[in-house]
Amino acid sequence: MKKAPLNSENQQIVIKKNITKKSTRSPLFYVGDKYKLMPQLSELFPKNINNYFDVFGGGGSASINTKAKHFYLNDIDTKVMELHHFLMEKSTNIDQFIFDMRFLIQEYGLSHSELGPNIEIEKLKKEFKKTYFAKYNKTGYLKLRSDYNNNKERTELLYLLLIYGFNHMIRFNRKGDFNLPVGNVDWNANVSSALTEYASWVNKNEITLTSLDFEDMIKRNFENNDFIYLDPPYLIRFSEYNKLWNEEHEQRLYQVLDELDNKGVKWGVSNMVNDHQGNHNYILENWMKKYQVYQIKSNYISHFDNTIKDTYDVYITNV
Ligand SMILES: C[S@@+](CC[C@H](N)C(=O)[O-])C[C@H]1O[C@@H](n2cnc3c(N)ncnc32)[C@H](O)[C@@H]1O
Repeated sequence: MKKAPLNSENQQIVIKKNITKKSTRSPLFYVGDKYKLMPQLSELFPKNINNYFDVFGGGGSASINTKAKHFYLNDIDTKVMELHHFLMEKSTNIDQFIFDMRFLIQEYGLSHSELGPNIEIEKLKKEFKKTYFAKYNKTGYLKLRSDYNNNKERTELLYLLLIYGFNHMIRFNRKGDFNLPVGNVDWNANVSSALTEYASWVNKNEITLTSLDFEDMIKRNFENNDFIYLDPPYLIRFSEYNKLWNEEHEQRLYQVLDELDNKGVKWGVSNMVNDHQGNHNYILENWMKKYQVYQIKSNYISHFDNTIKDTYDVYITNV
């Protein structure tokens, strides 16, 4: 492990070597998920975790790739947690669920590349290099979206919208209707294998789901060897859920972490100090001086020009 100064205060930051271990992807294919970084992060987590609190859980990648006695998975987004509830229920017989979804995909006339090549899509690929699935699926997707918006109890339709929708995202308008356009994606072999791996994790573990604000989630008594992992929205990055986050939240989070540290509760938090557009998180930089900081290598796709940029996340911990 190397040490090098990173910030203006010359705080010593530990740079982790690249780790090439395999990591499991959540079937929610969540924007900003941590699955690629989990091999680096989990190495820095304490060994023998008792209760594990994934406070900003999103798709759950930071839980699926961790070993603990009991998992507490939380996200303020109730729709995300509804999808976890739904997929956990289906995990008792995930093969049946995958099989049933085939009929739904067929009913809406959507492409299903896991089943093999589709001549019409192959033709569209020549003409519409980046939008062939979207062209093929648009009509079926709009019918699916309208059916879901007319009956929001049908979580299986919401899951299908996530699989066929823009960037696998979840977005609702003020009226509470799902409003993302069709994406250039479909149900391929990765979807079924992510569901199978998720089900295997669900069936082997004790998991409690909540949908609370982070502060309420960690207002509790902790036991020995409990560990809290926090992956908040990054103040200096754009994403749908960043609308929920501002400087006040950021400061409140660090205050709560200081209080937990005083009580001897172990935690680790992911974040980013600067990005390629020159944005800088001064609140984070000032606060993290008190703790151990690790540089975590990551690749992000820029929202502005669709290129992949090499950037560094930080992982700050009191372990
Ligand atoms: C960076 S994402 C987490 C990604 C997740 N670790 C994964 O691997 O999929 C941040 C998450 O924080 C959630 N969030 C935003 N504000 C929150 C709050 N006040 N309390 C709890 N969760 C919050 C968002 O809904 C979003 O899912």
